[in-house]
Amino acid sequence: MSWTPSSWREKPAKHIPEDYPDQAHLSQVERQLANYPPLVFAGEARRLRNRLADVAAGKAFLLQGGDCAESFKEFHPNAIRDTFRVILQMAVVLTFAAEKPVVKVGRIAGQFAKPRSSPVESVEGVELPSYRGDIINGMDFNEESRLPDPGRLLQAYSQSAATLNLLRAFSQGGYADLHNVHRWMLGFIERSPQGEKYEVLADQISKTLNFMNACGINADSTPNLQQVEFYTSHEALLLGYEEAMTRIDSTSGEWYDTSAHMLWIGHRTRQVDHAHVEFCKGVKNPIGIKCGPGLETEELLRLIDTLNPKDEAGRIVLIARFGSDNVQKGLPDLVRSVNSAGRNVVWSCDPMHGNTLKTDSGFKTRPVDRILSEVRDFVDIVSSEGAYPGGVHFEMTGQDVTECIGGAQAISEEDLSSRYHTHCDPRLNGEQALELAFLIAEKLQSMPQKHSKTIPATSIA
Ligand code: TRP
Ligand code: MN
Repeated sequence: MSWTPSSWREKPAKHIPEDYPDQAHLSQVERQLANYPPLVFAGEARRLRNRLADVAAGKAFLLQGGDCAESFKEFHPNAIRDTFRVILQMAVVLTFAAEKPVVKVGRIAGQFAKPRSSPVESVEGVELPSYRGDIINGMDFNEESRLPDPGRLLQAYSQSAATLNLLRAFSQGGYADLHNVHRWMLGFIERSPQGEKYEVLADQISKTLNFMNACGINADSTPNLQQVEFYTSHEALLLGYEEAMTRIDSTSGEWYDTSAHMLWIGHRTRQVDHAHVEFCKGVKNPIGIKCGPGLETEELLRLIDTLNPKDEAGRIVLIARFGSDNVQKGLPDLVRSVNSAGRNVVWSCDPMHGNTLKTDSGFKTRPVDRILSEVRDFVDIVSSEGAYPGGVHFEMTGQDVTECIGGAQAISEEDLSSRYHTHCDPRLNGEQALELAFLIAEKLQSMPQKHSKTIPATSIA
């Protein structure tokens, strides 16, 4: 059976709403979107695949992060800037420590659709459909807002386009210049222990840049110093939207989903014979697969072979999300079987989604020490199985929120209510994200270097 961008429609699909009141309106919007300009170019997605092939080979590190879910209401340039600069700060810390290029991928400019554990939500005896992300319905708890609305696909597209436009400007227009390393500090981090640690490192980088400048290496001779490659990603969940954004690349004749550079398949939609896998099978973008409790080794190998039959490097990113309590039990078998089958993959760690709990006062939160502990175990497990722990995938924001407990600021359960803004899952704030970067940096430095540092990796912008 041959693949088309719509062949997923013949398969069972989880977490895609079927209750659009006006199906004709939905189809009309999808047709309209199919004529809109692509958000990313196929060539960029191919370049990301090459970068990820370097990660798979142990020559680079993947940093993927952003909001759990973007929202229409909190759409603001400052929020985009702050997320971007925390990612830059983390990237600097990791590049410096690992002495390897860091591939920067945002969960941004398209991360709008959410799978939910229950299709309905009850509040004080009233039952309504669950909120499914701003691309589908509204968060407000009333009947009208919870109805899926096709117009939201168009709004998600335009917000993604505007976000990506700003990110491209930041990446290429001078903001990401390494000479700005001190200026990326966010006000609230500046006064913290992580902030001081960062300042020390930023000083070292500034000194190195001055030295290199004296040697004739500067932004004029080496534009890489003032630009970064920044890629976008989101969960490929709402397949009608993804289908509409899928186009044939005229240079290669291959299909690409042009809504983002990279897509991933969630923990709840990775059934090998279902719609989400069917869709991702046919597009050439790099594909992430969330791997968590319950995923059997044979199932994972079947998924990998279905999505990447030619075993191309850089195509598959396995994102482990077991939780600090389960990672020791669940991860080793998966790494071992993928490794002994000789499949070429990137191993990345999502230390967020397996570590969510509810406090007595009803807040969803994540303890920072569990997040850090899962990352540590991940690095140990993957490397002791002879594979390369190549990346992290996390939920963060540049805002000074109080959503995850612990960290250097020691946010307590009582503090959660003070600045709890998330639309969905609890995110690390800027300082907690930086703490995570330092921890990974230390962990990577302590690892035996199988891949000699004297062989430089392909440098990236
Ligand atoms: N372009 C290089 C890179 O992305 C160097 C660089 C420029 C950089 N600005 C940066 C690295 C900001 C990290 C953060 O690796
Ligand atoms: Mn989430």
